[in-house]
Amino acid sequence: MNVPQHVAIIMDGNGRWAERRGQTRTSGHRKGVEAVREAVRSAGEFGVKYLTLFAFSSENWHRPQAEVNDLMGLLKFFIRRDLAELHREKVRVRVIGERMSLKPDILALLTEAEELTKENSALELIIAFNYGGRDDIVRATRLIATRAANGDLDPASICEKTLSAALDTGDIPDPDLLIRTSGEQRISNFLLWQAAYAELVFLPCLWPDFDRSAFEGALQVYQNRTRRFGNIAEPDLALGS
Ligand code: FPP
Repeated sequence: MNVPQHVAIIMDGNGRWAERRGQTRTSGHRKGVEAVREAVRSAGEFGVKYLTLFAFSSENWHRPQAEVNDLMGLLKFFIRRDLAELHREKVRVRVIGERMSLKPDILALLTEAEELTKENSALELIIAFNYGGRDDIVRATRLIATRAANGDLDPASICEKTLSAALDTGDIPDPDLLIRTSGEQRISNFLLWQAAYAELVFLPCLWPDFDRSAFEGALQVYQNRTRRFGNIAEPDLALGS
């Protein structure tokens, strides 16, 4: 099986999953954490090397304060409860997104997870937290502009690689497959630059129902799409990029 090296997922539908059961949105997000665990396990088993999960977007701050607190709490709960096991399984945890506006306790936990697991290489779990694709590009632009203003970088030498390297995902390969659950067919400001050539797979299932077999189904769709190009040039190369 042609397994994508990097799978990125927009985990959508926790709220609808809960509403359909007459439960609170919080219980939908809790169930979503269980689906996160299963997705990480499955990714490792399938041989995926990078798994990026959209856990909290820059726009999620606009949700009611109680729900924002819930989502922050669930990330803390996940790191506290699962970090040791992730480390045992040789998973490297990395976090992308804007960090300055995060509370110190969250920041400390995220840093601890990154530090503890930085030598691991079985799977990279990239948690997109307080992440927005446009914000990523803006912050990268600021970095590049500062280097140019300091005389450390010749503006004429700026190319796609310069920008790629300045993004939060600097040393992470671009996603090959981007999955979104819940039937919505939007990128919603996720890895805008990085997903330029990713295969997009939109699944009808809600995130809490995303299990190993749903993951496998998405990998099969990916395989069928890429297989069409058989022995001829990769689609990206054919476009001359
Ligand atoms: C979308 O569902 C989901 C989110 C905004 C957050 C996803 C977060 C988790 C699964 C838990 C924490 C993450 C980790 C990595 C431990 P929605 O609330 O937008 O659903 P709706 O569109 O049906 O309302």
